[in-house]
Amino acid sequence: MVQKVTVVGAGNVGATCVDELARMNVCKEIVLVDIKEGIPEGKALDMWQTSSLLQFDTRIIGAANDYTKTAGSDIVVITAGLPRKPGMSRDDLISINAKIVKDVTESIMKYNENPIIIVVSNPLDVMTYTAFLASGLKSDRVFGMAGVLDAARFRAFIAEELNTTPGSVETQLLGGHGDTMVPLPRFTTVAGIPVEQLIEKEKLDAMIERTKNGGGEIVKLMGTSAWYAPGLSAAVMVRAIATDSKAILPVCAALNGEYGMKDLYLGVPVVLGKNGVEKIIELDLNEEEMALLNESASHVRKVMKVLDDMNFFAAKYGGE
Ligand code: NAI
Ligand code: 2OP
Repeated sequence: MVQKVTVVGAGNVGATCVDELARMNVCKEIVLVDIKEGIPEGKALDMWQTSSLLQFDTRIIGAANDYTKTAGSDIVVITAGLPRKPGMSRDDLISINAKIVKDVTESIMKYNENPIIIVVSNPLDVMTYTAFLASGLKSDRVFGMAGVLDAARFRAFIAEELNTTPGSVETQLLGGHGDTMVPLPRFTTVAGIPVEQLIEKEKLDAMIERTKNGGGEIVKLMGTSAWYAPGLSAAVMVRAIATDSKAILPVCAALNGEYGMKDLYLGVPVVLGKNGVEKIIELDLNEEEMALLNESASHVRKVMKVLDDMNFFAAKYGGE
């Protein structure tokens, strides 16, 4: 149990995250912040009024443009930014969202000394790196949500194919949050049985492709991006930290030599606990899996370069 969680961005993902988190009863207070006057206050009040019906104690407070109310947050979730529209890739959002994520992180750091920050805004891996630079925090306290969601999608597709309970499907997934993500059939089991024994390769490959395009599939259907599974996935990460559960989850974490990579945020399995990313787990990858991970890392580096070329980091951080 922690005292306070702040969620910045009271849109679809942020509000869903608060709604799910309150029901988990793992923090005393949630502060919801947005730039739109009235929206975080209204949504917070609406959700707080479900407390007696849902039997939770978490106090939910809305605060448009008022970061003083976030002071003393143990964990901050950043969902502020534009979502994808049809035809847009996550990377198209980069310049707009980088400025938003940087501004939000700086505002948070004015009132919070050593929070844990979970980034959700897209393009996820590079926005997480942006928040890390803007915060000045140690990298094990700044990380991103993507793998929990992408793995949940893969697990749902497998359960549907086998007509079994989704909770029995366990998996790991690596790489950036995008079309180059690396679902890992070799590290996927159903009730302890390797999935490759249960589903033929062709079908499994199709499910991997569907997972990679999981966000895009929903954007095409609704005209904007998903929020139920993304909001819950962020809340699941907050719960692991708030309860110090040491859950092993796929998280967008800073690599400092793990998997042979440095100066990069990328999806890898980590142990999440009260100190944030407490350990990065290095899976024993085969050649093919390692090649896919390298390809995903190159893609993330390309997106980082867009910000570098705009002098985005250098302008404020002297290129550090
Ligand atoms: P949304 O448009 O419903 O909500 C975004 C909210 O951010 C809006 O209420 C807006 O007013 C607010 N906002 C904008 N600038 C702000 C600022 N400077 N300070 C505070 N609030 C600000 O969008 P949605 O669907 O909630 O998505 C949010 C972000 O999450 C998008 O970038 C989206 O691409 C990303 N996303 C990431 C996922 C992941 O797996 N990492 C999954 C789904 C969405
Ligand atoms: C998703 O995967 C668009 O990142 C968002 O749903």
